[in-house]
Amino acid sequence: MTGSSYEHADSNFDLPIVQSITATLLDKSGFDLSVYSDTFIRRRLFALINMEGLDGLDDLHRRISTDSKLLKRLLQSLPIYTTELFRDPPFFKNFRQEVVPILKTYPYLRIWHAGCSTGEEAYSMAILLKEEGLYDRSKIYATDLHAPLLEKARAGIYPIRWLQGNADNYIKAGGAENFSMYYTLTAKHVVLDPSLKRNIVFAQHNLTTDGVFNEFNVILCRNVLIYFNWTFQRRVHSLLHESLILLGLLGLGNNESIRGSGMEVCYKQTESKVKLYQKVN
Ligand SMILES: C[S@@+](CC[C@H](N)C(=O)[O-])C[C@H]1O[C@@H](n2cnc3c(N)ncnc32)[C@H](O)[C@@H]1O
Repeated sequence: MTGSSYEHADSNFDLPIVQSITATLLDKSGFDLSVYSDTFIRRRLFALINMEGLDGLDDLHRRISTDSKLLKRLLQSLPIYTTELFRDPPFFKNFRQEVVPILKTYPYLRIWHAGCSTGEEAYSMAILLKEEGLYDRSKIYATDLHAPLLEKARAGIYPIRWLQGNADNYIKAGGAENFSMYYTLTAKHVVLDPSLKRNIVFAQHNLTTDGVFNEFNVILCRNVLIYFNWTFQRRVHSLLHESLILLGLLGLGNNESIRGSGMEVCYKQTESKVKLYQKVN
């Protein structure tokens, strides 16, 4: 079997070898693939097999047991870290309209971006809070499992091509200023204004193994749960619920939902029907 035909391989037939790869990965690197959904695992493994020109899952398993460089490439290929500034602009537009008035009633705000990737979501929040006069009384905690992503997030420096889609998103999300006031340009990079970092703490946190570390008024965990299997989606939902204050707000990704989380009765969705939920018990 070669190329994309691997994508159609029978998942039940492959199960033992996928489990062996998972066990080897855990043993050799401490990375636990078993928390992710079957579809996610298969897509990532077959993408690597195709890229490396390997002869299927057995071949991949044999090689990662002895080839530490391939093992490293496998680990690097696993995270899906796609993100944007003001990703899914209607979410942020509705956040301004529905959530900001609630946030204005608190003297101090703690906001958690769980699975922040390279930082754009946290920087979007910093910009939004600045424009709403809330930034100086806010602390934003932005966490991710993967340290290299956090390093990029902390730097707040992105390639020039990053600008186009992100500037459009800012406007569509209801941005109230001239977007260019939030960055400076060098020959090849966009450097975000250092003031946007002032109230953000970037830190490593594993949603599937680590616990509650603070109480939050708002938690955004967007486009992260979608990669987990049901068991771990439920575990993470329970962690998010425990970490939110009563009447706190939870934001999920477009393709994620509170349905099936075991927490349905604990939240009510906001009027706009974007994936924003208020904790009611
Ligand atoms: C697709 S990105 C989403 C980024 C951002 N929230 C957004 O919606 O644009 C998913 C992020 O989840 C992180 N992630 C995956 N598993 C995780 C875990 N167990 N704990 C914390 N973060 C995790 C990945 O490293 C990646 O940065």
